[in-house]
Amino acid sequence: MTLRAIVKGVGHYLPERVVPNSEFESFLDTSDEWIKSRSGIERRHFAADDEMTSDLAEKAAKSALLDAGMDASELDAIIVATSTADLTFPSAATMVQAKLGMEKGFAFDVQAVCAGFVFALANANALILSGQAKTVMVIGAETFSRLMDWEDRGTCVLFGDGAGALIMSAQEGEGTNADRGILATDLNSDGRYKDILYVDGGVSTKSTGFLRMEGKEVFRHAVEKLAGTAHTALEKVGLCGEDVDWIVPHQANIRIIKGTAKKMNVPMDRVIVTVQDHGNTSAASIPLALSVGKMNGQIKQDDLIVTEAIGGGLAWGSVLLRW
Ligand code: UT7
Repeated sequence: MTLRAIVKGVGHYLPERVVPNSEFESFLDTSDEWIKSRSGIERRHFAADDEMTSDLAEKAAKSALLDAGMDASELDAIIVATSTADLTFPSAATMVQAKLGMEKGFAFDVQAVCAGFVFALANANALILSGQAKTVMVIGAETFSRLMDWEDRGTCVLFGDGAGALIMSAQEGEGTNADRGILATDLNSDGRYKDILYVDGGVSTKSTGFLRMEGKEVFRHAVEKLAGTAHTALEKVGLCGEDVDWIVPHQANIRIIKGTAKKMNVPMDRVIVTVQDHGNTSAASIPLALSVGKMNGQIKQDDLIVTEAIGGGLAWGSVLLRW
């Protein structure tokens, strides 16, 4: 028998305010046509002024608990993947812990920007396999609208706010790749690429800062590194692209999503795509896509899913799991 971290529930939350591409045309030299054709994005959600990342995370968490038929008291740990926590400290995760009324266990944030959810999920897997926790809530939650320079048309049209959550729980498997749960993970980073995607502020520099990105450069790394990490995770358990039921990619750009699927020999009808409705929600994009994919009947129990993401760092990685 082999211990596995399996999915018990999934949920998401999107802020009420929907911002179509046309809204940017009123104050920027841009167009719906440019945004749609270069990125695939048609609209995104922005949080209300009094809505914080932990509020989005709490709602996604409650939706996942409902899906799992579980109570917060059954959780041993909460991990929130975010680069936009409400406060410098405490972590967004401990805030969610309090909001859920969870009085035991532990909670912490993971910061790997757009790859954050994959890093958080790999950490949850490690906690479960090591016996440190039996049930872990893994949340990706972001308010990237707070990091936008509204005069920079190359970035501010691309990002959105939202949250998604998965509940992972320990279960015995057979030790084969037919088991449900996480089958393999692959994590990478290369700090030499800091300058192509970063925020030009932070506590130590005494400012909040704005997101800065050399889009073309990030794009250049994306397809190759995403297909590479997905391939590595699959190869660890003797599988390949053809075996995958769904790619659930980080939702940054439809051209990156298509390029990666092509490199993996997976047709687009086996890729969950939400970028048109959510924009790039950084660490929230994969759990959002998983939740939407399950809700609309695409993702079913026993489906083989590979998630892959890349973002600031650069940091990138993948998780292979059977739903
Ligand atoms: O989640 C983290 C990972 N991030 C990513 O994966 C993002 C990766 N990069 C991208 O998705 C794409 O590079 C972008 C969508 C950001 C940009 O697409 P692109 O095809 O690489 O365009 P570009 O940056 O080369 O810009 C092409 C032109 C430029 O004009 P010139 O210099 O050719 O005259 C830009 O100034 O498009 C211009 N441009 C715009 N035009 C209208 C840039 N932004 C806009 C805009 N509206 N919003």
